[in-house]
Amino acid sequence: MSNTTKVTIKAFRFNAETDYLPYYKSYEMEVGKDELVLDLLNRIKWEHDGSFSYRRSCRHGICGACGIKVNGKAVLSCKQNAMDLVELFGSELTFDPQSKKRVVKDMIIDKSDFWEKHAVVKPFVVADIDEHPTHETKVTKEEVENILDADYCIQCGNCHYACPALEVNEEFFGPAAFVAAYRFTVDPRDNAGKERLEMTSQLGQGVWDCVKCFECAEACPKEINPIEKITKLHNLEFEKGIATRNVATKHAEGFLRGMKKTGYLDEADIVLYSEGILGMYKHIPTAIKMMKSGKIHWHSGVPFINSIPKIKNLDEVQKLIKISQTNRL
Ligand code: SF4
Ligand code: SF4
Ligand code: FES
Repeated sequence: MSNTTKVTIKAFRFNAETDYLPYYKSYEMEVGKDELVLDLLNRIKWEHDGSFSYRRSCRHGICGACGIKVNGKAVLSCKQNAMDLVELFGSELTFDPQSKKRVVKDMIIDKSDFWEKHAVVKPFVVADIDEHPTHETKVTKEEVENILDADYCIQCGNCHYACPALEVNEEFFGPAAFVAAYRFTVDPRDNAGKERLEMTSQLGQGVWDCVKCFECAEACPKEINPIEKITKLHNLEFEKGIATRNVATKHAEGFLRGMKKTGYLDEADIVLYSEGILGMYKHIPTAIKMMKSGKIHWHSGVPFINSIPKIKNLDEVQKLIKISQTNRL
């Protein structure tokens, strides 16, 4: 029995200096069960076309250089087994760069927006260093656990270029910058936490513009779960009194208010609470669609009518909220 499978790879090709339009080129090869996506990239270059370009350096999932997309799935080439992808997608694999609109050549993209946003949140410990320290700085086990797993980030950019909020809003810092902001804000040696929380609380660029789609968590090869760090930044902003009253923070308050009152998610009430009556009329087309699909009732949209019934065991829900709430909104 053969230990290999015939695979067709369709690779995105584009040279920003010479090509007017991008195109796909197909390469056929027998792929072994232990080969990684990086091996296939190497084989395209070494066996088929020496001009094929991609980034790689460490081959050990450390340098963060080799992120690409295979059939739309963000992968770290040197960690991703190719046959697992064949099992998932079949024997035709499409290799794309992380972001087509930023391509310099083939799989290589211009990551400057990623690095600029990363740098803005000060991804380092900001501290006054005593030039002649008399003792070491001790960090407790709990404090270290707080930093992990955010500290495992290798800045591959997979989450950043998988984020739909970033695609439509260039100001948005993106999940990797938030991971870094969180990691250094909770570092007990750092003094710039307030500054980072202020930056990441701004509407447009900050954590409140995340739409909680979980694409970043899916895309991360280090299983860091950036959205968890985003939620922790939300909490820290409330705890430290940095969160300002705006439509996003009022949305969080409105959610909590509704859950306490009825135990149900009252979409209409949240909109009314966070955006006011005028804001509510903006959402009439969406409300009609939601009514049609049975997600809200017609009377839910009428302001000031308490039409949502109370859930059975509301007191249990209220107790759960009390136990789980880490801060006051
Ligand atoms: S959860 Fe938020 S940060 Fe993560 S990909 Fe979605 S919008 Fe972007
Ligand atoms: S959080 Fe994960 S996906 Fe995002 S840059 Fe860091 S390692 Fe890559
Ligand atoms: S080559 Fe370094 S992370 Fe893949």
